[in-house]
Amino acid sequence: MSAPGNRLKILMCTSEALPWAKTGGLADTVSSLSLALAKSGHELTIVMPRYYGIDRGKLKKLEGAMGVPVGGGEEWSAVYTTVLPGGKEKNPVRVYFIDHEGFFGREGIYGNPATPDYPDNPRRFAFFCRSCFQLCRKIGWYPDVIHAHDWPASLAPVFLKYGEKYGISSEEESFVNTVSVLTIHNLGYQGIYSKDAFFNTNLGWDVFYQAGFDDWEMMNFLKAGITTADRLNTVSPNYARETLTQAQGFRLDAKLRARGEDYSGILNGIDETQWNPRTDKYLPAPFDEKDLGGKALAKRTLQRTFKLHETPSVPVIGMVTRLTDQKGIGELFGPAYGSAWSICRDMNVQFVFLGSGDAWAENEIRSLASRLSNFKAHIGYSEELSHLIEGGADFFLMPSRYEPCGLNQMYSLAYGTLPIVRNTGGLADTVQNYNQETGEGTGFLFDDLNPSAIYNTVGWAVWAWYNKREQIEEMRLRGMKQDFSWTKSARQYTKLYRAALGKSPGPR
Ligand code: ADP
Ligand code: GLC
Repeated sequence: MSAPGNRLKILMCTSEALPWAKTGGLADTVSSLSLALAKSGHELTIVMPRYYGIDRGKLKKLEGAMGVPVGGGEEWSAVYTTVLPGGKEKNPVRVYFIDHEGFFGREGIYGNPATPDYPDNPRRFAFFCRSCFQLCRKIGWYPDVIHAHDWPASLAPVFLKYGEKYGISSEEESFVNTVSVLTIHNLGYQGIYSKDAFFNTNLGWDVFYQAGFDDWEMMNFLKAGITTADRLNTVSPNYARETLTQAQGFRLDAKLRARGEDYSGILNGIDETQWNPRTDKYLPAPFDEKDLGGKALAKRTLQRTFKLHETPSVPVIGMVTRLTDQKGIGELFGPAYGSAWSICRDMNVQFVFLGSGDAWAENEIRSLASRLSNFKAHIGYSEELSHLIEGGADFFLMPSRYEPCGLNQMYSLAYGTLPIVRNTGGLADTVQNYNQETGEGTGFLFDDLNPSAIYNTVGWAVWAWYNKREQIEEMRLRGMKQDFSWTKSARQYTKLYRAALGKSPGPR
């Protein structure tokens, strides 16, 4: 069943992947990790839903429909396929889309602005996870590893262990050697629903308890995945440690502690074909650490785009984020207490914001932009602007309450934009604090999440900009030289897969 040699067959089971469906870093990570693993020789297949916005015209349809057991009956879906852009012709990453009009033929991945969490999500994602197995049967390809991402895919390890592995169909040998790995990208989203919806899984009530679905009177998808997967990890070593504590464990710390050595942290890499100032198609000119001329031009373009004074001497603080409590937006934009207002009022800076999310924050940000001439915002999603902000800003602000990994601070470092971040999760793993005595560091960190800590740390960075400019320039270059490629982390995933397979870690 295994692919030859050290080559593993890996099936990524995910609700998001670039360039087709994204609400956050999960999409970037699944696609770029898959490309990195394929580059190192493994055989990769991604399975995801065909959401309404994904154009069937650009995909190839597989012949015949596919029956998927769900909720006591069977639902029929079509399957589409293509390859992931950016892969090698010799070993492409294959992508399969599960097409079911009733479940996925609607706006939004998990919900829409009026209904952020669709009430039939347990049925939608139970169907999706089961369809991953049916797909393997349909294409006659059985993976060594099923790698599930976050709560929407958490039923894949459960289905593997309770049913699929030992065969409930005529293909009973098929998954017998398959193992599962679960990656937690965000413990804050667990997929908690009424246990009335448990029937959608087609599992018995004994499994409800054995597999760890039980969460008081509710059903918890992620908890079941954590209990069941052969190995699990999160997306930075520091966040892995934090989640073992009651303070950051989102009620699952004991469950994670119980997994002992099976649970680890692997830092995300970044997709350097997309996030590289030497080749970035969204920048007015390329740049690198030897010549920052293109960065100065990007700053001017950014200032012009956002209708700010085109002055090189004033530092630009950038921010690109989902507007949700996780990101520290209360402390930054909270009406009457958030620090964004006083930062822009008191300091000689320009502030550029891109993002969308919670309605109160969107309104507050619009209001700030109408009252402050040095605060500009684009509410919405824009790939182009996010690259221009990373390229053109001098500082990048991420005051996250918690941050499993965070991609933007790594993009910032690669683009010579100094991160101002809270000392938490993956931010702490990737940014070294500035030392104004020695000039060491790659950014600015603070411990407590409150408006004055944000204000003071931004103030510190701005002070350094005006008084320690040489050190700032050196820090930029230091950041740009860091290696955030996937090479090392892809190797760690390979080790994790092998550990799950019960083999000693191989050479890849
Ligand atoms: P999270 O997944 O928690 O949102 P990450 O830092 O891992 O945080 O990833 C966020 C990703 O989403 C980054 O690639 C970031 O550039 C992107 N992003 C977030 N909001 C926007 C937006 N409004 N426009 C463009 N890109 C965005
Ligand atoms: C999640 C986390 C973020 C992480 C991303 C990709 O959305 O919030 O910190 O970078 O997943 O793993």
